[in-house]
Amino acid sequence: MSTFVTGGTGALGTPTVALLRERGHAVRAVATTSASAARLAGMGATPVQGSLFDPGVLTTGLAGVDAVLHLATRIAPMSTARRRSAWAENDRLRAEGTRLLVDAALAQGVGVLVYPSFALVYADGGATWLSAGSPIAPTDVLRSTVVAEQEVARFTAAGGHGVVLRMAGIYGPHSAATRDVLALAEKGISGFVGPADAFQPLVWDEDAAAALVAAVETEGLSGTFDVVDDEPLTRAQLAAALAAAVGRERVHRPPTPLVRLALGRRLGFLLRSQRVSHRRFTDATGWAPRVRSAREGLRLARAAVAASQAVTRR
Ligand SMILES: NC(=O)c1ccc[n+]([C@@H]2O[C@H](COP(=O)([O-])OP(=O)(O)OC[C@H]3O[C@@H](n4cnc5c(N)ncnc54)[C@H](OP(=O)(O)O)[C@@H]3O)[C@@H](O)[C@H]2O)c1
Repeated sequence: MSTFVTGGTGALGTPTVALLRERGHAVRAVATTSASAARLAGMGATPVQGSLFDPGVLTTGLAGVDAVLHLATRIAPMSTARRRSAWAENDRLRAEGTRLLVDAALAQGVGVLVYPSFALVYADGGATWLSAGSPIAPTDVLRSTVVAEQEVARFTAAGGHGVVLRMAGIYGPHSAATRDVLALAEKGISGFVGPADAFQPLVWDEDAAAALVAAVETEGLSGTFDVVDDEPLTRAQLAAALAAAVGRERVHRPPTPLVRLALGRRLGFLLRSQRVSHRRFTDATGWAPRVRSAREGLRLARAAVAASQAVTRR
């Protein structure tokens, strides 16, 4: 197959491009800088240099491809995330970017379009299992991902196969956020914040990449599905898993009222309880996570980070 990727140099894009290449896809991918272009070429992809919004990038990029994976994003860094303006580029990539991609894919007769949305759009479900069809609460900065989901539905309504994968938080040794969480745990603090009994869905980065590739390769697939590991853990269970991963008896969980205050109303959704199931996606594609729970994944990530630090010190 021939696949066009946006965001191919990102945390999710990097393992996805690697897996697509491994499975024999010809990959064309947008590169916003010459450094990104060099990285993509190094992975065996053909870079199309420019921004998703540059005229010509989509015409060149989509010519003759079978599938599009739209992974481009610009999440606001935590230091500015409380400001609405910090999310403008991200909103644009999701809403306008997805619309442009859908228009271009329809114009060029591309058959498949896959977009990774967020499991975070679900309303707080307590201990209830959630999946596509459960109530959503796309407040504030989450709205643009629902606009992108609607664009994917427009692609399907026009005759294409549009797939939305509501992804859990992606973690693994290559993720800067995971390395930060492990470093904090070594100092005795849990980076998984929120009420002790609130579930936080996670998925190992290579499993998330495998889900995207399964969505591209499963013939006739369209609709909205969930991509999470087998066993979503609560924040209290995640703190215990973190402690075990870094070899401490326990890590301290920051008090939730304080965290809520620090996050403000805009980011309050980060504290919701979302116990999400991947069953529908597994039934439809045969995909299953190889890292089944963060109890195992945090240990694997810690070992991989320690090994790479040992190599650097040598
Ligand atoms: N990370 C998670 O926990 C998570 C969870 C659920 C869903 N998702 C979704 O998964 C997708 C990928 O997330 P990620 O964490 O991999 O993001 P990331 O690491 O921040 O990577 C962002 C990517 O977007 C590209 N990009 C930014 N602006 C662009 C533009 N104007 N034109 C073309 N490309 C542009 C960047 O390219 P350059 O490097 O060339 O600038 C980079 O490859 C997003 O849709 C995100 O919402 C992520």
